[in-house]
Amino acid sequence: MKLPEIHIPIVEISLNKNVKLFMKREDLIDSQISGNKYWKLFFNINQYLEKNPKNPHIITFGGAFSNHIAAVSAVGKSAAILSLGIIRGEELQDKWRDNPTLAFAEKNGMVLRFVTREEYRDKEKLTESLQKEFPEALLVPEGGTNEEAVNGIRMMLNNETKDFDYLCTAVGTGGTIAGISKFCENHQNVIGFKVVNDSSLEKKIFELTLKTNFNLIDSSFGGYGKIKDENIRFINDFKKRYGIPLEPIYTGKMMQKVIELIDENYFPENSRILCFHTGGLQGIEGANLLLQKQNRNLII
Ligand SMILES: Cc1ncc(COP(=O)(O)O)c(C=O)c1O
Repeated sequence: MKLPEIHIPIVEISLNKNVKLFMKREDLIDSQISGNKYWKLFFNINQYLEKNPKNPHIITFGGAFSNHIAAVSAVGKSAAILSLGIIRGEELQDKWRDNPTLAFAEKNGMVLRFVTREEYRDKEKLTESLQKEFPEALLVPEGGTNEEAVNGIRMMLNNETKDFDYLCTAVGTGGTIAGISKFCENHQNVIGFKVVNDSSLEKKIFELTLKTNFNLIDSSFGGYGKIKDENIRFINDFKKRYGIPLEPIYTGKMMQKVIELIDENYFPENSRILCFHTGGLQGIEGANLLLQKQNRNLII
């Protein structure tokens, strides 16, 4: 079964400031395959299924809390595709049941294969041996970023997104911002809120788009995956005020930075700013388990 096209609502975040802020709720696509993950997989899966309708299988890579692993497992389940997840960290072999993301993936039928961090780092070798082992499988890279994924992000843009002056997204591997930059209108400014310290991102995004119409702003708040108390306060307050859940690794940090920038008058008066809610809410449970162990406030 192919993935269907879905229309996503845009909602206003009323701030009482000199600009207008909106969110496109890609997180509402589906409770399990949400946000940018859906669109990054959209053409990958649908094109593959056209060519391989019988006995389809998908292989991908990720860390212990990966939104991408969760999404691929859910796509596998709903589209009847066998899925194999190559998971970073051999030590998880015996304790994956305690990890909500991996337990969710396994429940969806994903077979989990754990590899050492060294093996995981050498993607070329790993990919080559997987290709030999499963010649018919669809191999999707970590984070789901490839050319089809960038083209799939086009589906996040439509007539309703054309009038905004700024398009904002969180940036991990760069595939989502690449799609937005590639397919947005000429007058639009694209801002990527970088949650990883990766100095090669700009080059990677350029290679995917051949465009330079984007800016990257550091929004890592101390590093990828690090959660500060101020991030938790922001996310909980945002949910109370606007009824929109955010997670602490991507969308929470992006929205916190966007609002900081609005307060610093970074955006010209009357700007219309659209932030893409790229989902990933499954990660809250895992983040709360870690916060609980550290005796800290939880994300509500
Ligand atoms: C919820 C969420 N938002 C944003 C991103 C960033 O997307 P990309 O890796 O395409 O830059 C990710 C990626 O992994 C994600 O899980």
